[in-house]
This record gives sequence, C-alpha cells and structure tokens, in this order.
Amino acid sequence: MYALASLVLLPVVLAAQVPQFVPPSEGPLVASSIYPGFNNGSLPKAEQVSGKAFQRIIHIWLENTDFLSANSTAAFNTLATQGIRLDQYCALTHPSEPNYVASVGGDFFGMGDDNLYNIPANISTVVDLLEAKNISWASYQENIPFDGYEGYNYTSKNYVNTSAPGYVYYVRKHNPTIIYDSVASVPSRLARHRNFNDFAADVNASALPQWMFVTPNMVDDGHDTSVDYAASWLQYWLFPLLNDTNFNDNGTLIVLTFDENESYTENNCVLALLLGGAVPSRARGTTDSTYYTHYSLLSTVEANWGLGSLGRGDTNKTLSNVFSFVAAATGYKNLNISSSEVLTNATGTIPGPLNPGLYVPFTAPNTSAVGAGGGSVFVASGMNTSFTAAVAPSPVNLTQQNKTVPWSGPRNGSNAVNSTGSGSGKSGAVDMREGIVGAAIFGTILAGVVALLV
Ligand SMILES: *[C@@H]1O[C@H](CO)[C@@H](O)[C@H](O)[C@H]1NC(C)=O
Ligand SMILES: *[C@@H]1O[C@H](CO)[C@@H](O)[C@H](O)[C@H]1NC(C)=O
Ligand SMILES: *[C@@H]1O[C@H](CO)[C@@H](O)[C@H](O)[C@H]1NC(C)=O
Ligand SMILES: *[C@@H]1O[C@H](CO)[C@@H](O)[C@H](O)[C@H]1NC(C)=O
Ligand SMILES: *[C@@H]1O[C@H](CO)[C@@H](O)[C@H](O)[C@H]1NC(C)=O
Ligand SMILES: *[C@@H]1O[C@H](CO)[C@@H](O)[C@H](O)[C@H]1NC(C)=O
Ligand SMILES: *[C@@H]1O[C@H](CO)[C@@H](O)[C@H](O)[C@H]1NC(C)=O
Ligand SMILES: *[C@@H]1O[C@H](CO)[C@@H](O)[C@H](O)[C@H]1NC(C)=O
Ligand SMILES: *[C@@H]1O[C@H](CO)[C@@H](O)[C@H](O)[C@H]1NC(C)=O
Ligand SMILES: *[C@@H]1O[C@H](CO)[C@@H](O)[C@H](O)[C@H]1NC(C)=O
Ligand SMILES: *[C@@H]1O[C@H](CO)[C@@H](O)[C@H](O)[C@H]1NC(C)=O
Ligand SMILES: *[C@@H]1O[C@H](CO)[C@@H](O)[C@H](O)[C@H]1NC(C)=O
Repeated sequence: MYALASLVLLPVVLAAQVPQFVPPSEGPLVASSIYPGFNNGSLPKAEQVSGKAFQRIIHIWLENTDFLSANSTAAFNTLATQGIRLDQYCALTHPSEPNYVASVGGDFFGMGDDNLYNIPANISTVVDLLEAKNISWASYQENIPFDGYEGYNYTSKNYVNTSAPGYVYYVRKHNPTIIYDSVASVPSRLARHRNFNDFAADVNASALPQWMFVTPNMVDDGHDTSVDYAASWLQYWLFPLLNDTNFNDNGTLIVLTFDENESYTENNCVLALLLGGAVPSRARGTTDSTYYTHYSLLSTVEANWGLGSLGRGDTNKTLSNVFSFVAAATGYKNLNISSSEVLTNATGTIPGPLNPGLYVPFTAPNTSAVGAGGGSVFVASGMNTSFTAAVAPSPVNLTQQNKTVPWSGPRNGSNAVNSTGSGSGKSGAVDMREGIVGAAIFGTILAGVVALLV
C-alpha cells in the first residue's frame, strides 16, 4: 500500500516540477551564450525563385500535444485570428522520429521508434526537389552544437535550472533532413543544419532561405515540459518575429504544428495553424476542415513551385491534400475525406526497412506517380528503379534472427562526437511525458484494484 500511496502522489509532484519558461536569450534575434556553437556569419542571400502562392515556407514543429489541448490554449487562439486554423490535420504514426522523417521524405519506412538511423543515399527528400530548382533551404535546430553536427543528441549547460547538471536540449530525432544520407553526406547540405544564433544572423541579414524547418529545443517545443511552456516560447519567439519583415513578409507562409498527438489510442490529429503574410486576408481567422497530413507539407511545396515529386506518400492523394489556398492558386484538386476514415495512430506495425520486426529492404519510389507540382519523380543515383514495392520480398523478423536493421547507427564518416558538451551526467528537468505515461499506467492498476475490491 505504501508503494501505491507514493505512486498516487507521482503525477502531482511531476506536474509541480514543470519549470517556468526561461527565455534562452533577450530576444529571438539576440545572440545567446546558451547555444554552444557561436555563429560564423549568415547564409549567402539567395536568388528568390517565384512561387504561385507563397515565396517562403517556415515549418515550426512543437511536440506531443492532442488537438483539443492546443486548441484551448490562449496563444494558439490568438495566432488563429491572424491565420487559418486547420482542424483535420493529422500526423502519420508514433513516436516522434518517423513523423519528422516522413515530412521531408514522403515515407517513414516502417519506423516505430526514436532510434539513431541513417537512411541510404539513394532515398531522396524535398531537398533534392528544391535544389533542382535552386530554391534555398535550411534546418534551424535551436541547440545544435555546430553546423551539421550528426550526433544522436547533445548535452549543454542547463539554463532553465542553473544549479542542475547539463541537459539534453538537442536531439537528432527532431532534425528531419539530417537523418537522410542523401543530405548528410553532401558537405554543403550538411552545413545547412544551423542553430538559433545562426538563425538570428540570417534574419538580421535578410538572408532566410525560401524553405526552412524550425525545431525549438526539448523544453521550448513542449517535449520535456508542457503545451503551456511551448506557448510561452511562442510568445517569446514567434509573436515578435511575425512583425519583422525579414522573417514574415507578404510572401511568407508559416506552418505551426505538432509532430504527433499525445494520446496514442485516439486518431493522430493535431492542431495546425497557417500564418504569415501569404495567407490571403479574406481567409484570416477562418477554419479549414480539409483533411491534411504531414505529407501535405510536401505536396503543398511541390504545387507552389511546380516541383517534381518523391513518388511516395507525397503523391498518395488520400494523404496529401494541398493547403486549400495554395490548391486554389495552383489549380490542384483536393479529395474530400474525413480524418475519421483514415487511422494514422499505428506504431511499429507497418512493414519497412526501418522496422526490425517486419523488415523489407528499401524499395524504389513509384516513378510513374504525378504529384501536385506536376514534375517527374526524382530518382537518385544508385536507385534500382525496378526494385519496387510490388516485387519486394515478404517482411522478415530481424529481431528474431538477433539482427538489427542495416540503417541503424551513425553514418559512415559522420562527425558524430560523444554527446556531452559543457556539463554532463543526468539531466535536471522532468520529462512530463513519462509522468503522464506513469499516471496512465497507475490509473489502470488502480482501476484493476478497485474492480477487485468491488
Ligand atoms: C477550436 O477552438 C475554436 C476557438 O475556441 C473553437 O471555435 C473550435 O470549435 C475548436 N475546435 C474544436 C474541434 O474543438
Ligand atoms: C541553378 O543555378 C545554377 C547556377 O547558378 C544554374 O546553372 C542553373 O541553371 C540553375 N537551375 C535552375 C533550374 O534555375
Ligand atoms: C564556427 O566555427 C568554429 C571554428 O571553426 C566552430 O568551432 C563553431 O562550432 C562554428 N559555429 C557553428 C555554429 O557551427
Ligand atoms: C542521448 O544519447 C545517449 C547516448 O547516445 C543516450 O544514452 C541518451 O538516452 C540520450 N538522451 C536523450 C534525451 O535522447
Ligand atoms: C505586432 O504588431 C501589431 C500591429 O502593429 C501590434 O499590435 C503587436 O503588439 C505587435 N506584436 C509584437 C509582439 O510586437
Ligand atoms: C509584397 O512586398 C513586395 C516587396 O516589398 C512588394 O513589391 C509587393 O508589391 C507586395 N505585394 C503585395 C501583394 O502586397
Ligand atoms: C487508433 O485510434 C482509434 C480511434 O480513436 C482507436 O479506436 C484505436 O484503438 C487506436 N489504435 C491504437 C493502436 O491505439
Ligand atoms: C495511400 O494511403 C492510404 C491511406 O493510408 C492507403 O490505404 C493506400 O494504400 C495508399 N496508397 C498507396 C498507393 O500506397
Ligand atoms: C538503395 O541503397 C541501399 C544501400 O546501398 C541498397 O541496399 C538498396 O538496395 C537500394 N535500393 C534501391 C531500390 O535501389
Ligand atoms: C519479432 O521477434 C521478436 C523476438 O522474437 C518478437 O518479440 C517480436 O514480437 C517479433 N515481431 C513480429 C512483428 O513478429
Ligand atoms: C545476440 O546478440 C547479442 C549482442 O550482439 C549477443 O551477445 C548474443 O550472443 C546473440 N545471441 C545469439 C543467440 O546469437
Ligand atoms: C566516446 O566515449 C566512449 C566511452 O568513453 C569512448 O570509448 C569512445 O572512444 C568515444 N568516442 C568518440 C568519438 O570520442
């Protein structure tokens, strides 16, 4: 009983320990000593490639929040008055990493965990599609220790609780493009994974690229904290930047969303907001109930710039409706689907090259697919186009054979170093998610005990 009594207190104690938001700097454009890598200058100002509905897209991903929870948080409602609220936007699976991977590569390849992967170089991403048209891009990762760091995570000085040891603020699993060798093995591409001091320099130099992915650190994105902490970060970071024309001008589209929901037993839909000057004024403050998924991020970019496609989830019409104001501007026809018709909350039960229990090799994309941009499917060198899903062998269980998938572990020749920067040892803050899982497990045990007593 004593053990049970202390378990009862656990969720309360954990909730009480969610820290108050601590700004990592005096403002989003002020260099911060909290980021280990100092800035070495801004990106070169790139030639702008004209898009049909927007000239820049900024993806901002927060973590693990159910739709209703975000939708009832004040900061999101304030933002929604300035943009379009999407109320049928869904993530693709669980946990985090496969969602990030899918958002840039059009597939999560069966992945059902957050492990260290490197996806082989014949697998293409949005970077190939963008660079084929000279469209500039970057991945801004708040606490990445240096440009192009390939390690699994990175521990730096704890600025939220300064008396605690170092803290893991950066994780590779939230940095989608670096997980692909087609990106990471090309030095000029690798260098486009930059921290928030670089971001500040790029904004100040009016040199932001046309496609960018923004990942706040593990406390600011709500992963280790709560949606309220993430909302405070939005107040600190996004609200002032919305007024800065170097960040948000009349051609800017900002997609603010979450990687996945928190409740695995519900369908995996999350709040998404479309913000920025590119949102037509008549659409501001409205709700769009079209069914979208993370693949819509790819199809929308493809439609806007008339790009080729990846011939994967980005060309699956069920999962890749184009954001409606972009569809209207580009003549793309969306399908009328309800999110309840498509369940995307399975975890690790989909076969693929990154599923050790149901392993199939990497297969070629569907080279005859036509995506929302109308261009041809990008085929990387080294891709055997005749090795398609149709001819792939049945899944095998590598775990049973005491093997792991060949794509786990660091890339050959990667610069991954041991993950400790200044400070080491156990992290000092609390992982709310474990608290919630703990509470859920305890709730089940308690229900069982009550059932027995009754
Ligand atoms: C989301 O929040 C808005 C504003 O409060 C509300 O009008 C809407 O009904 C909410 N959506 C859902 C699906 O609950
Ligand atoms: C991209 O830029 C390079 C170098 O400036 C140029 O040679 C090439 O034609 C451009 N490609 C496109 C599609 O504009
Ligand atoms: C800037 O360059 C220095 C020296 O090469 C390096 O140590 C540092 O990590 C670089 N900063 C970033 C943000 O990459
Ligand atoms: C960071 O990486 C180390 C070793 O690679 C691992 O043991 C640890 O669990 C990771 N921590 C987080 C928060 O990802
Ligand atoms: C942004 O500009 C609007 C309108 O000019 C103003 O009401 C708002 O306070 C500004 N927000 C910030 C965070 O500066
Ligand atoms: C958007 O801003 C640019 C640059 O300031 C300007 O040339 C253009 O006319 C503006 N477009 C609209 C629709 O306001
Ligand atoms: C997925 O969500 C549906 C709808 O809420 C639910 O019935 C189902 O049990 C969930 N699946 C899993 C694996 O949790
Ligand atoms: C497209 O996605 C739907 C929903 O997940 C799936 O049922 C269908 O098999 C997919 N189509 C192809 C061609 O993969
Ligand atoms: C892609 O590359 C990997 C690694 O070289 C190889 O094992 C795989 O067969 C290739 N797949 C295709 C479809 O070409
Ligand atoms: C694969 O094998 C492992 C170890 O025997 C087992 O735990 C797991 O359930 C199997 N996976 C599948 C999908 O059959
Ligand atoms: C399975 O792999 C582990 C780790 O490599 C090794 O220690 C063990 O001996 C292997 N077991 C079998 C049955 O091959
Ligand atoms: C990382 O640390 C381990 C254990 O301290 C050590 O054996 C290994 O050589 C280190 N690796 C690198 C790349 O520094």
